[in-house]
Amino acid sequence: MRLTEETRKTLRIRVDYTNMTDKYLGEKGISQKTLDTHKAIARKAHAYVSENRGKDELFMGWTELPYNQDEVVADILATAKEIRRKFEYFVVLGIGGSALGPSMAFSALCHLHYNDLPKSKRRGPKFFVEDNVDPVRMKELLDVIDVKKTCFNVISKSGATSETMTQYLVVADLLKKAGCNVKEHLVFTTDQSRGNLVKISKELGGVKSFVLGDGVGGRFSELSPVGLLPAAVCGIDIKLLLKGAAYMDKLCRTPDFKKNPALVSATLQFIAMKEGKNIGVMMPYSDNLRYVSDWYAQLWAESLGKNVTLSGEACNVGQTPVKALGVTDQHSQVQLYTEGPFDKVVTFLSVGSYKEKSPIPHGCENIPDVGFLGGHTMEELIQAENKATAFALTKAGRMNYTVTLPEVNEFTIGELLYYFELQTAYAGAMLNIDTYNQPGVEAGKKATFALLGKPGYESQRAALDGASPDPNYIV
Ligand code: PA5
Repeated sequence: MRLTEETRKTLRIRVDYTNMTDKYLGEKGISQKTLDTHKAIARKAHAYVSENRGKDELFMGWTELPYNQDEVVADILATAKEIRRKFEYFVVLGIGGSALGPSMAFSALCHLHYNDLPKSKRRGPKFFVEDNVDPVRMKELLDVIDVKKTCFNVISKSGATSETMTQYLVVADLLKKAGCNVKEHLVFTTDQSRGNLVKISKELGGVKSFVLGDGVGGRFSELSPVGLLPAAVCGIDIKLLLKGAAYMDKLCRTPDFKKNPALVSATLQFIAMKEGKNIGVMMPYSDNLRYVSDWYAQLWAESLGKNVTLSGEACNVGQTPVKALGVTDQHSQVQLYTEGPFDKVVTFLSVGSYKEKSPIPHGCENIPDVGFLGGHTMEELIQAENKATAFALTKAGRMNYTVTLPEVNEFTIGELLYYFELQTAYAGAMLNIDTYNQPGVEAGKKATFALLGKPGYESQRAALDGASPDPNYIV
């Protein structure tokens, strides 16, 4: 795709927040006065993010990923080419930020039935992201791949995450038993020097490795080698992805929240949270965008769900992300969104032009319930249902806003990722919390270490044993 200023503008993502305001929601909506009183906090959040962008010590290295990876991108493209030549299967082993981004980009930008396509119609090897340690899932993955023809991309910043390292142990053992040269079947994406994968690489004689920079946390890592290598292996244009992110960055340089898409969304969500909207539903009207909700759920929940402010005061903030899919969940959750508690903000992800239109043939003209559909397209139908659901929610006084991608491609997905990352950074600054830590996740990781007998966790093990269920409360 040739990118001129004009094509960039055509591919610009738009945020329509009409249905958040009192003009359309009456007293349930946000008034101009409320928006005006939040201008100052929005400016302050914008200034905080702008001043600290790129600072590794604050985990804000992610802001620079669209600009500082020329060499890495060249290496990724060369490695991806080799992987495509040598392997029939490519399996990502990782969890959290190391898995959700690769899954999301794959699902957004590859054929929805990619793995079922014949080899000639795929742009790369069959692709799997294995995050869970469900033993059935691992066993059944092994039923459909041949380890001798598989490249495993082990993604873990720490190299100490039990799930990922368990998967690594399983596949390393299988590769050995199959007589493979283990290191030739592995690519590591990890911390520059501290992670355990660095040690393992040395022991194996040097595994091809990519670095996840110090200043980039897992949930902000999709535009680093964490996401770029798996995407490139599947034939996704990663340069275009980064260009889309850079374009969104440019759009968000202004502190005027009415012109800055990420800042306006963060401000609206911040106001909504203060008004008790503790649930944020994300509802893409596109199967390609379905896993954007999963990726976003981690970004939003892990970044904002905190119990202490940066000034050390106790707080319990955050908004619970809920994943929905249009139109599927119109027939499942929308009843609740329309008539249940006033505790939600719904974010619609809409598509201006789908890559397929799928005309609906004429037929059943004598049955009015069916006949009217003929002559339209499935694109018209899904867009009409999207508009109708937003309208119905608005009529019922429910806050909702729409983020429209003119089309789904690498450029717009790059824009979308960066938009949500910035929105999260701004919202975290408004809440005055540490957006980039995750002590709640660490606590669970440590308890697992204790339960499985990791040395150094003995006292925690004793506490856990003491916390066994009380039989009096088991029915
Ligand atoms: O966002 C995060 O930091 C987490 O979700 C991590 O990505 C996840 O816990 C995996 O950690 P690691 O990359 O160290 O294996």
